Amino acid sequence: MNELAIYIHWPFCKSKCPYCDFFKQVNPHADQDKIVAEYIEALGKYNDLTSDHTIKSIFFGGGTPSLMKPQNVAKIIDYIAKKWPISSNIEISLEANPNSHYANMFLSLKNAGINRLSLGIQALNDDDLRFLGRTHNLALARQCLEETVKVFSNHSADLIYARPMQTLEKWQEELAEICNYGLKHISLYQLTIEEGTVFARKNVQSLDEDAAINMYNMTRLFLEDHSYKQYEVSNFAVIGYESRHNLTYWQGGEYLGIGASAHGRLHLNGQNIATEYPFVHTVLSPEERAEELIIMGLRLTEGIAKADFHQICGLQLTEFVNPKYLDELKELHLLEETETHLRPTKSGMLVLNQVISQLCS
Ligand SMILES: C[S@@+](CC[C@H](N)C(=O)[O-])C[C@H]1O[C@@H](n2cnc3c(N)ncnc32)[C@H](O)[C@@H]1O
Ligand code: SF4
Repeated sequence: MNELAIYIHWPFCKSKCPYCDFFKQVNPHADQDKIVAEYIEALGKYNDLTSDHTIKSIFFGGGTPSLMKPQNVAKIIDYIAKKWPISSNIEISLEANPNSHYANMFLSLKNAGINRLSLGIQALNDDDLRFLGRTHNLALARQCLEETVKVFSNHSADLIYARPMQTLEKWQEELAEICNYGLKHISLYQLTIEEGTVFARKNVQSLDEDAAINMYNMTRLFLEDHSYKQYEVSNFAVIGYESRHNLTYWQGGEYLGIGASAHGRLHLNGQNIATEYPFVHTVLSPEERAEELIIMGLRLTEGIAKADFHQICGLQLTEFVNPKYLDELKELHLLEETETHLRPTKSGMLVLNQVISQLCS
């Protein structure tokens, strides 16, 4: 039976962070109940197409889904559980921003059905939290981390590094602190200056390339020394706690995207379909899907499973990619090919965009 992941996008934030280009609005007067009713209606329509799929994960992302009332989170989870078969080890995650914290927030979310909490910490010192435009401080970040590990048995935190002026030593102190909480998963993103953001307008520069590469290499070693295995460019987990939901994207699985700006991928009647919320469907050609599978799959340390690639898009991986560059990239030890997989090496991960654009040329 096919598996399906469901992404629920909550597009509201208390304030806008100057680095962020994700789809969001600041609207304290948004009518939550009405939006949730629309989401449930959309889920009902998608259920007509996918009711034979088993739900493997639900992910409340944003924006700031911790601004949702827990009873609305529960309403969505309960509806999904009523309409689809549910995997016995379903992962139900929610991204929480410390700035939405209130008494018993984590317990209320757990009671609503969330079983994995992902905290948007971003920095573990007050100066950098301010620089990143975060409206929580270090004390609240620490309080949320402590409460999260007390209430949940599966958890994650996001941090952003390679901030301007950040030193290797200071970053290592933050890594040491985050590793101490006993989280099962950590996402560490290098700051990117995205077009249209306040940082781009102010011409904020991220760290120069060599310093950022040094930081990335140190980060990987540090996390591995502290029992976190890197399984994706920016993601590290205690073995067995890799995000089931995000693996769906990277491994080319099927998922629904519910909420403004959310998209999905379905495989129906032998066709690959891209969905845009609420209900716009586009058929992808085998070549279009193949390219997506390469872009996503090479982010994983295990790389792309050739058999899955063929099953999803109908093409053979090593016939689809540019043969000249495939050989060259292997000779340069940027890619490694086994009987079953094509994967980036550690050095390949540092120049992934270049590797992908050559393979797909
Ligand atoms: C869409 S955000 C949602 C998280 C949640 N709203 C919060 O702020 O805590 C997901 C993650 O992407 C990362 N992120 C967003 N913009 C980024 C950027 N320009 N550079 C690096 N990481 C970024 C942050 O770590 C953030 O937690
Ligand atoms: S980082 Fe999170 S809180 Fe900040 S603007 Fe983006 S989605 Fe909203």
